[in-house]
Amino acid sequence: MNSLKTDNFFKEDAAAQAESKEALARQLADLISQEPTDELRETFAKAQKLIACYRCALLEVETKFRVLNEEFSLQHERNPIENIKTRLKSPNSIREKMIRKGIPLSLTSMEENLNDIAGIRVICSFLNDIYMLAECLLQQDDVILLERKDYIEHPKPNGYRSLHLIVQIPIFLQNEKKNMRVEVQLRTIAMEFWANLEHRLRYKKNLDESLVQQTAAELTQCAEISAMLDDKMQRIRNIIEG
Ligand code: GTP
Ligand code: MG
Repeated sequence: MNSLKTDNFFKEDAAAQAESKEALARQLADLISQEPTDELRETFAKAQKLIACYRCALLEVETKFRVLNEEFSLQHERNPIENIKTRLKSPNSIREKMIRKGIPLSLTSMEENLNDIAGIRVICSFLNDIYMLAECLLQQDDVILLERKDYIEHPKPNGYRSLHLIVQIPIFLQNEKKNMRVEVQLRTIAMEFWANLEHRLRYKKNLDESLVQQTAAELTQCAEISAMLDDKMQRIRNIIEG
């Protein structure tokens, strides 16, 4: 009885996922295609395939981090990774970014020019784990580093901190190997806490301008306090672990 229920559950889930994948591809094809309507079907098929490829790329990178987490927890009896989040950029954000950057609105130029269609965020408790995980990922011989931005060493003026990597990894389909780009963001729990609040302030529309500025300044202070906390926690852990 239980297994029957589970099977139905998975079936429904798969159907819902297939439906949302199709809706996503349709929206993407509609939004960034400049081709005439008779080619829309072709664009839709291409969008569907691309979305699937980006999902696969995310699965690959997520698995790499999960494997590292497993191995590390065997050796050191603790998990360096607290949480992993993945996301595909929404068709609306893709279109908005391409217009903003003056990139031609087509799927081919989207694939060539945007590095953050597939994004993965890895959240760690401790600072050192961020660099350890990044190094382990980049050592793997199927991973190519395209860009590295260390906003921990060099925080943004507002206080934003995280380590950003753009990596290229291959995915293996039935008859082809395709190289995909993924944006990896590594940060501590404290950095994630801060970035989420800052993000909310950024998109808050109905606040008085002077209050926005005052709050932004307070957030920058919070970023400094939070950086100190990350440093102290790291030092304490180093002492505990010898
Ligand atoms: P775009 O991707 O075009 O925005 O430019 P970029 O590639 O120079 O971006 P960058 O590497 O600086 O940041 C990319 C992502 O990092 C953003 O989409 C956010 O998720 C995150 N990020 C960067 N800066 C901030 C910030 O100041 N606050 C918050 N909350 N998130 C940020
Ligand atoms: Mg970016």
